[in-house]
Amino acid sequence: MDLKITETKTRKELPDDSKLGFGQIFTDHMFNMDYNPRQGWYNARIEPYAPIVMDPATMVLHYGQAIFEGLKAYRTGSGKIQLFRPDRNMARFNRSASFVCIPEIDEAFLLYAIKKLISVDKEWIPRAPETSLYIRPTIIATDHYLGVRPSNTYRLFIILSPVSAYYPEGFNPVSIWVTDKYVRTVRGGLGEAKTAANYAASLYGAEVAKKAGYTQVLWLDAIEHRHIEEVGTMNIVFVISGEIVTPPLGGSILPGITRDSVLTLAKHWNIPIAERPITIDELIEAHKDDSLQEIFGSGTAAVISPVSHLAWHDDVLTVGDGRVGLMAKRFYDAITDIQYGRAEDPFGWIEPVEEE
Ligand code: COI
Repeated sequence: MDLKITETKTRKELPDDSKLGFGQIFTDHMFNMDYNPRQGWYNARIEPYAPIVMDPATMVLHYGQAIFEGLKAYRTGSGKIQLFRPDRNMARFNRSASFVCIPEIDEAFLLYAIKKLISVDKEWIPRAPETSLYIRPTIIATDHYLGVRPSNTYRLFIILSPVSAYYPEGFNPVSIWVTDKYVRTVRGGLGEAKTAANYAASLYGAEVAKKAGYTQVLWLDAIEHRHIEEVGTMNIVFVISGEIVTPPLGGSILPGITRDSVLTLAKHWNIPIAERPITIDELIEAHKDDSLQEIFGSGTAAVISPVSHLAWHDDVLTVGDGRVGLMAKRFYDAITDIQYGRAEDPFGWIEPVEEE
């Protein structure tokens, strides 16, 4: 497929790298591509970043048929631009598409388009330590229709945002609120797909947590309200008696790429790992008998995010000494060192972005 590139005549001023935050600033260009049943995916184009004008009857506005991905481009010390395991994001994008009846995309073409878009906007890749260019591919349903059925037409777009840490805490511990009242998803639902609906379902609980002074929610399973699932913006990992324990991918948890990288690194370092169901009761017991050493989250946006406090009913547990744990730091350093080209990549995770 051809990719048409139309560059803007009025480039915006680049932001101050030391004040980025997450997802608030957008670059000069975006990628767009459309789908209809007759042409398949067509009209692939990079053009100036602009609003999408929509008819009020556009289906995504009513029934939320939308998916997205999140990955990052990193600038190395020697000035190279690189991606981290983008093949995994492309594959997950298609898997998410299948959950909500969105037609498949050509993964190799999408990766090519991402690289082209980054090349056009490469000056936007920030240079300050631990900053990156967040890449957000999205597909939305575009039929104008109020009946409930999958749309026949779609828009795929990719936008870019220079970012620093996702949480205002940076690489400092966050506090998490565990709920057995609200649920995010149930097995057989959309939990393992990156659909807009999953995130909508997490908002209310997250606001309750925020009002109580916590950064995020740790979701439990929707049936027994006992089994630990994930945080919504990141998967969750425990260090118990020297073992890495994380809930298995049972259908209601996002198959995180950073989660997979943590497990791969742990294996590489001969640290025992267990992908197994873990209940909140077991976690409370492990805290009581001091075998719970660390908790941290893993995600593209969150990277590795240590957890210092966990609120459950009327108790607030302090994890370890409440500071960044050794294991969290080891994973954070190993992953970011590979991402930023400070260390060898023995796993073949890095994908260079060719510049023109
Ligand atoms: C990511 O980690 O890329 C996410 O998509 C999580 C959140 C920002 C929605």
